[in-house]
Amino acid sequence: MDVLARDVNSWCRIPGSLFASGLVLLPNDPGAPPVTVEYGPLDVGGADRLTLLLGAGATPDHENVLAVEVATATRAGADVSNARVELRQGEHSSMTLSLGDASDGARVRVGVSFAEFRDARAYGSVRLRYALAYDEDPLMLLFNAAGTDKGAESAAGQGVPHCYAGEYYRRFDAIRHDAFNFLEIGLDNCDPPQGAPSMRVWREYFPRADLFGYDINDFAFVEQERTQVFRGDQSSRTDLSRFLDTCYPRSFRIVVDDGSHASSHQQVSFATLFARVEPGGIYVIEDLGWQPYPESPTTLELLRAFTARGSMNSSFITEAEARYLEHAVDAVEICKPNDSEIAFIGKKKEL
Ligand SMILES: C[S@@+](CC[C@H](N)C(=O)[O-])C[C@H]1O[C@@H](n2cnc3c(N)ncnc32)[C@H](O)[C@@H]1O
Repeated sequence: MDVLARDVNSWCRIPGSLFASGLVLLPNDPGAPPVTVEYGPLDVGGADRLTLLLGAGATPDHENVLAVEVATATRAGADVSNARVELRQGEHSSMTLSLGDASDGARVRVGVSFAEFRDARAYGSVRLRYALAYDEDPLMLLFNAAGTDKGAESAAGQGVPHCYAGEYYRRFDAIRHDAFNFLEIGLDNCDPPQGAPSMRVWREYFPRADLFGYDINDFAFVEQERTQVFRGDQSSRTDLSRFLDTCYPRSFRIVVDDGSHASSHQQVSFATLFARVEPGGIYVIEDLGWQPYPESPTTLELLRAFTARGSMNSSFITEAEARYLEHAVDAVEICKPNDSEIAFIGKKKEL
């Protein structure tokens, strides 16, 4: 990939790739042209959208307002889209732009200048935390609007968005209007809980599904027609069994585990709940690349061993559970659309 830097002042650091984090831009003197970095042609795999996550440095103290202008262009240099955002010290923002038809490559230009110059003590800086190229689809738009990290615009905590929407869309769009039971473990990134954003998206996306949520925190406030929530710990077989008893005799077409992400918890939940996934259904485990503390085997290791050897051995699941899973799991697909893996575990249609 060619990287072309123009008008870059001496303080800027330019990474080798737009898709590596950490580009820091400081503005030129007020009145001078924007500090501008241009990348391209970039192979974006035909993706039609680009989201940039930007942050203005929290230090040193200043009162300036920085303007970030981003433009996309075709390989030949024809303008496609542009956007502008203003950032004060310590502020963050995402910007989403069209890449148009980028099948033969795209160009991206990022420029920083002063929107307001009030303070010569320090100029301030803007860090390009992340750039993500992806295909837009209806589920991505819903996740982006809801502010969940299943989309491409919202970064939970210090991380980056997982961009799982495209993988979900590919698998779920054909059944979007079916009537079925859907369960998600883990409902909100906020403490205390705010609004269970992913449940709101699933509810809109699957207009005929009955939705079930399961979380260690109290989400009774999201209950409404077609939506029930259960308070429980996903690492507790007792809690999970109580939940299954409450729902009996329902089985689930889709289960999504976006809970604690601890491998032992994921595996206890998987081993307890998979029997109540309907034949041909899908059990999803998100964010396999992130663990709150070290454990062995990780769920990623367990699932990789299963795909390689057909065995499901782990100290977190019983012998009987392991034999059932080996018999009932049809296929495991592990995808990594961005920073962290997601597993789609299909159940056999006939057992
Ligand atoms: C990553 S957030 C879920 C994000 C949400 N699904 C979204 O897409 O916006 C994790 C959730 O898991 C819940 N959680 C954490 N530990 C849990 C446990 N042991 N059992 C059940 N839920 C747990 C937290 O209360 C939190 O609501």
